[in-house]
Amino acid sequence: MNISIVGTGYVGLVQGACFADTGNDVICMDIDAKKIAGLKKGVMPIYEPGLAEVIQRNAKDGRITFTTDLKTAVQKSEILFMCLPTPQSEDGSADLSRVLGVAEQLAKLVNAPKIVVSKSTVPVGTVDRISKIMKTHAKHPVDVVSNPEFLKEGTALQDSLRPDRVIVGTASKKAAAIMRELYDPFVRTGNPIIVMDVRSAELTKYAANAFLATKITFMNDLANLCDRVGADVEWIRKGIASDPRIGKQFLFPGVGYGGSCFPKDVNALVKTAEDQGHPLRILKSVDAVNTDQKSVLVQKILRHFDGKIAGKTFAVWGLAFKPQTDDMRDAPSLVIIKKLLELGAKIKAHDPVAIEVAEGILGKRVKFCAKPFEAVKGADALIIVTEWNEFRSADIGKVKQLLKKPVVFDGRNIYDPEEMRQFGFAYYGIGRAGDKN
Ligand SMILES: NC(=O)c1ccc[n+]([C@@H]2O[C@H](COP(=O)([O-])OP(=O)(O)OC[C@H]3O[C@@H](n4cnc5c(N)ncnc54)[C@H](O)[C@@H]3O)[C@@H](O)[C@H]2O)c1
Repeated sequence: MNISIVGTGYVGLVQGACFADTGNDVICMDIDAKKIAGLKKGVMPIYEPGLAEVIQRNAKDGRITFTTDLKTAVQKSEILFMCLPTPQSEDGSADLSRVLGVAEQLAKLVNAPKIVVSKSTVPVGTVDRISKIMKTHAKHPVDVVSNPEFLKEGTALQDSLRPDRVIVGTASKKAAAIMRELYDPFVRTGNPIIVMDVRSAELTKYAANAFLATKITFMNDLANLCDRVGADVEWIRKGIASDPRIGKQFLFPGVGYGGSCFPKDVNALVKTAEDQGHPLRILKSVDAVNTDQKSVLVQKILRHFDGKIAGKTFAVWGLAFKPQTDDMRDAPSLVIIKKLLELGAKIKAHDPVAIEVAEGILGKRVKFCAKPFEAVKGADALIIVTEWNEFRSADIGKVKQLLKKPVVFDGRNIYDPEEMRQFGFAYYGIGRAGDKN
């Protein structure tokens, strides 16, 4: 099939690579000329394990090309995937200006019957609005399909090559059949392609993210209670995870969820529900609890240093909102670092891949260190913010030796409190049987 991707970001680039890899001809279009020029030379705009190889292989065979020319992208393809950003507006709703603006551009350019696929996360009713735009401006019939994306940054390629499920929202049998044909190679192990009505498909995406955000927030809230009652949230996690109704995943407490999706999607769903006169009270609390959670580590730091942190230096390990990505959108590290800087502290930070992106946001206020131990040297304490694997088995003896005093604030519970204390550290985790130091 001839496919065009409009919006070559995390979702568009990964999806384009996967479609090319299964033999389709893919044009990836973006308005960002620098990104497209880089991609033409094989320069990846994002860090995503395995992605560069797949793109290079398919580019060499001519199955994936990059352009800033929307007209060519529209006119050469039968299927147009809209993978545009839907950031949060001031009132919490999803900003649909790019999606609706591009929809009108596409409508005016179509030169034959097409399928337009909405891959962005959009509130219920958006696909109907896009369909209306097509009816008003397109000279040829256009089927608009909802096909929300569920990839996880860090494992995006694997998630897209082997999705747990593919959701297709359409009333058109023809469009559904084409979408099935397109996705069949990715679900050979039997994972489902679920065809449903458009509105349910749109809401399914929000339901998934809102549920996961709720699950992690519940554990964060419970961890804070553990700190107060002297229970260890790790035992509780193990104790409940073996119940299949609860499940093992997303039960790890930390410094709050961030990233490009959960925060904005939770708020957009809250806004949709409010607009419908059915406030989702649980989700509103999830957002409030999560906002507070991003400050939990700073409170622990303030308690340890009796509120006197001006002039102190903190080593921060991990900046990206989660491991295996350089995405810093809504990363909890930003909240923690900005708060500590406001309080007069100095920050030396290390991340295996996100330094360049973080530098663009935080600038010279932070000293960025290419090596983890460079950040630790001479610092008053180490703060773990992102649970990169290399931090899990780091040489703790060396950390102790390099810090002014052995103090660790572990925002991801990657170390064992007992072992750390035996090693002579003042150790603070999240919900680890109280901060007994
Ligand atoms: N990133 C994720 O993990 C993820 C997962 C699932 C769903 N989503 C959803 O997918 C959508 C896209 O997210 P993303 O993370 O890929 O965003 P992104 O910001 O990484 O990429 C969007 C791309 O669209 C381009 N763009 C903006 N305006 C354009 C225009 N007028 N014409 C052409 N290109 C334009 C941007 O330059 C950018 O490259 C969002 O709705 C998001 O919620 C994202």
